[in-house]
Amino acid sequence: MPEKSVSRVKEDRSFEPSDHFREHARIASAAAYRAMHRESLEQPDEFWRENSQDLVWRTPWTKFSEWKPASDDGKSGAEAKFFLGGTLNVTETCLDRHLTTSARTRAAIVWEGETGETRTLTYFEVHRDVVRLAASLLDMGIKAGDRVGIYMGMVPETAVAMLACARIGATHSVVFGGFSADALRDRMNDCGARVLLTQDGAYRRGSVVPLKNMADAALESTETIEKVVVLRRMGKELAPIAMKDGRDVYWDELSPSAESVARAKAPEAFDAEHPLFILYTSGSTGKPKGVLHTTGGYLATANLSTKLIFDIRESDLYWCTADVGWVTGHSYIVYGPLSVGASVMMYEGAPNQPDPGRFWRIIERHGVSILYTAPTAIRAFIRWGDDHVTKADLSSLRLLGSVGEPINPEAWLWYHKVVGGGRCPIVDTWWQTETGGVMLTTLPGAVTAKPGSTGLPFFGVEIAVLRDDGTPAPANESGKLVINRPWPSMARTLWKDSERYVSAYWSQNPGVYTTGDGARIDEGGYVWVTGRIDDVLNVSGHRIGTAEIESALVSHPAVAEAAAVGKPDDLKGQALVVFVTLKGDKTASKEMKDALTQHIDREIGKFARPDQIRFTDALPKTRSGKIMRRLLREVASGNTDAKGDTSTLEDLSVLAKLRDQKDEG
Ligand code: WTA
Repeated sequence: MPEKSVSRVKEDRSFEPSDHFREHARIASAAAYRAMHRESLEQPDEFWRENSQDLVWRTPWTKFSEWKPASDDGKSGAEAKFFLGGTLNVTETCLDRHLTTSARTRAAIVWEGETGETRTLTYFEVHRDVVRLAASLLDMGIKAGDRVGIYMGMVPETAVAMLACARIGATHSVVFGGFSADALRDRMNDCGARVLLTQDGAYRRGSVVPLKNMADAALESTETIEKVVVLRRMGKELAPIAMKDGRDVYWDELSPSAESVARAKAPEAFDAEHPLFILYTSGSTGKPKGVLHTTGGYLATANLSTKLIFDIRESDLYWCTADVGWVTGHSYIVYGPLSVGASVMMYEGAPNQPDPGRFWRIIERHGVSILYTAPTAIRAFIRWGDDHVTKADLSSLRLLGSVGEPINPEAWLWYHKVVGGGRCPIVDTWWQTETGGVMLTTLPGAVTAKPGSTGLPFFGVEIAVLRDDGTPAPANESGKLVINRPWPSMARTLWKDSERYVSAYWSQNPGVYTTGDGARIDEGGYVWVTGRIDDVLNVSGHRIGTAEIESALVSHPAVAEAAAVGKPDDLKGQALVVFVTLKGDKTASKEMKDALTQHIDREIGKFARPDQIRFTDALPKTRSGKIMRRLLREVASGNTDAKGDTSTLEDLSVLAKLRDQKDEG
């Protein structure tokens, strides 16, 4: 069953929404939540008709959904369509509709660079910049359905880039700026991007991430990229770059034709199932999955969940600290918040740059009222000390959110007391790249929060926890978390690999979506997610596939075999431990460790660096040659008691040796 990921104390307390919060909340009681949830399942057409009114439809939809279940052999089917017959342009909901209201001059994005400078872009300005970039993409010959890569940092232009693609129906694929050149190359080749949008460099932890140079290295072996648009963030002295004639153009030197500007100003509408973006994420094989999201269902969910979960108002300044390169940034920095006309705070850099007080000073300086961050950051702040937090005036905060990994009750209680001053509701939000939007949460104002529980199903979401034999687990018994029916923002397929989509998600238990997470549901219906139970790790909120790490390691000439496992870690949730066997003539050494670390940096990115590399003569395996990960996890966690059945081990001495080995860190 699921590994224990962070230390947990038993916590039975629960937190009611305050009367003050409840008074203004959109959903103000548990009964109202339940009634609405029931309607969303029993009468989805009516529910979504009522609750998707923010969306600007060019042609109204006529039928809510259509679903073809997975075939018996698990190779095809699992085809979903939502909002059939509807056409729309996502950016009209996110931008144009605000231009005729007071939102026109409201801040859409309030940005602070790591070096301290700030910029504010109103809805008018974001729209203006999106039209200009969209028109330039049209001039480059980009058509609806073409793919465009985005390899940028946390700057407003990254949101502009995504929206410019959406404006003309191009499918964007954002690659997190922490990925290496090789990882970027693989993703661009896989999706066949024709244009790459990037920037000269970005600040991170006081140093410059040379994005354009890394992109150049990737572009040496990409086959489809014709043009590169480069945003000047740093200037030449700080990030020296080369511009390739005929291929590269500076963002600020784009001068779109009048004809394309006219087309971008009055954009086309696309089918509700038109592909909006591809986002690569880790799965249980070495090859990342290109998760494909489409237009109508994704936007409807992003919009409604943002509105109801974060309770956003015109007077709010909302800050989601995720990177826009991950799905949280897509749904809850860009599409969700802009679709509701929110003012979004965006910060370029690290939370402890130049010191651990940075986040709190940002909140004080700009008057942030809603903060959405990850447990790993919360645990780091606890470690850095309360002083950094309490020094700042955080009285503007009124709602807090958590995402990305299970939040341990200690962290929840600290967040509530020290950051929220005891007055802010906390919304934990469970979801995945594949789910597109939040699936489980405690709606603020409506229901009681239980520290450590990720709450109740969002609208349209029906979940279950299953035993290994596929039957529902009784209350409080841990099992596999599944989603019982398709939902509007679900991934439609994996890019160029629909068979993998069906087998990874829809064929393990007939008719239901397998999340890969373990969970239990308590007697009140609250879900307690315990973490991944597949071959995916969650290290500091980053999803890392063990197979990806292993295939990167075995591509190093010195490595014979490798196994990656997670180990509980108080700060990161899970730490990444790799066991490596070297080829005959190679010797384990500090230098070898360094070489393998650099190899991971190059193949994937620094964020995927193992916390420990352990060399071993052989890996413990079953008779059929399968690596016994459970045993390796025990060894990695320092658990030396022989637990479980080891009779299938090929070579018991291998395990004994590993257990005796001192942890060399
Ligand atoms: C984990 C991030 C517990 C989970 C949005 C999931 C969580 C994986 C929570 C998806 C939460 C995310 N409580 N676990 N509130 N939120 N997870 O695709 O294991 O980067 O399967 O999406 O993160 O990670 P992904």
